[in-house]
Amino acid sequence: MTTATALDTLRPKLAAIGQDHLLAFADTLPPADLDHLSTQLSGLDLDALPALIDQYVTTKPEPHLPKDIQPAPYYPNDPTADFRPWDQPHFRAVGEDLLRAGKVACFTVAGGQGTRLGYDGPKGCYPAGAVTGKSLFQFFAEAIGKTGHKYGTTPPWYIMTSPLNHDATVAFFKEHDNFGLDAVMFFPQGVMPSFDMQTGRILMADPHTLATNPDGHGGSLKALKVSGALDDMRARGVEHLSYFQVDNPIVKVADPVFLGLHAAAPDSSAEMSSKMLAKAYPEEKLGMFCVADGTLQIIEYSDLPMDRQRERLPDGRLRFLAGSPAIHILSVAFIDKLNSDPRFALPYHRAEKKVPCIDAATGKALTPDAPNAVKLERFVFDAMPMAARSIVYEANRDDEFAPIKNAEGSDSPATSRDIQTARAARWLESHGHAIPRDADAKCRCTIELSPATAIEAGDLAGTASPDLAPGKEVAI
Ligand code: UTP
Repeated sequence: MTTATALDTLRPKLAAIGQDHLLAFADTLPPADLDHLSTQLSGLDLDALPALIDQYVTTKPEPHLPKDIQPAPYYPNDPTADFRPWDQPHFRAVGEDLLRAGKVACFTVAGGQGTRLGYDGPKGCYPAGAVTGKSLFQFFAEAIGKTGHKYGTTPPWYIMTSPLNHDATVAFFKEHDNFGLDAVMFFPQGVMPSFDMQTGRILMADPHTLATNPDGHGGSLKALKVSGALDDMRARGVEHLSYFQVDNPIVKVADPVFLGLHAAAPDSSAEMSSKMLAKAYPEEKLGMFCVADGTLQIIEYSDLPMDRQRERLPDGRLRFLAGSPAIHILSVAFIDKLNSDPRFALPYHRAEKKVPCIDAATGKALTPDAPNAVKLERFVFDAMPMAARSIVYEANRDDEFAPIKNAEGSDSPATSRDIQTARAARWLESHGHAIPRDADAKCRCTIELSPATAIEAGDLAGTASPDLAPGKEVAI
């Protein structure tokens, strides 16, 4: 079908659903731009659009709170904790065997737009190192390489990009020779159109381009299949995916204890498992692991009433303690199973955003200073209830969590650098190295620990004492 015929067929369909403004400039477009527009329009599910817009865009869906919400059980980081002792060495050995046997791959979701950080480029390229300024991607690459050295097999690394940052991400890795790794695979996730918040009409970025946004990290579950990444994993003998976000330089990229619990804990179906963090304070903006109407799931912090989030146990601990740092293990078989169901779809979540666009009548560029658009995204944690049985394991917050989300304030490059230093200082101290500290016990120098040197405290055994004079910046 020629482009002109395709557009003639689309025109009445778009008019019937109030979206014919998308063709307002079609008659003035050169052939290449017209092709581009036509391809984008053909990718839309026009039959599904009106209901989607009704449900999520022009009305704000009320959060549906399950009737019975209980805190989720979890494996405490301290395996000797009274309320749930467990055999950590056993599960660590199971996880290490999986790593040695090459049954584990790393998976980074890096398709987000990183608007809060406001960095010009893919977020993974952000200079996160406290001393060297090395990129987030380099941190992960070094940690994956170190895992390979420790267990004799380097996990292959899959990176989900979006069509908006794919080329820049691939170019960054090329420029750095994949940071010395042999198996790094990239694939883009899908996109969703961005909608005008008032009218539900799809916004246009320019006369021949719809405004779109990546379809959320939940889009990864389909993208893994469609891209062929799952087939590639199977060909390599990979059975489990260690899933982490692009924003945390000290994440454990393939934690053997977590892998072991996922694969072998009696209450796990080895399909999808999650790490949790003890919330630092009730208002902390982390999704919460709950058992809701009998099912383990994550409830968004904005959906669970604040008085529930402030509930405390008799010993003073928060009753709803388990926040989500978005670290999971997913089995290849589970992702395959989900995709083999033609009805498989995760729900959408609505977010109001500022999206630059053009005025559909005049073509004038608009740069909104308040949210003008609705973005629809899917979240990976919504797959958790689809697993037969799912477990939660408490991460060591101080050792594993230094996220970079915002340009300033909490979860910013500055807080991440402080956490990196504090962790390096603790690990060095545990091996007898003296750390200069001020009256508040804060380390008086800046330390960046390369994952190539250590991905856990024990890896520092035998390290020579670094020169940690107050005020120094030291990279180890
Ligand atoms: P965030 O929720 O931090 O979103 O993503 P974001 O788009 O990166 O940043 P903001 O909200 O615009 O500031 C959490 C993780 O999920 C990935 C991100 O790259 C990050 O690793 N993600 C998010 C995707 O891979 N695709 C998406 O569509 C959204």
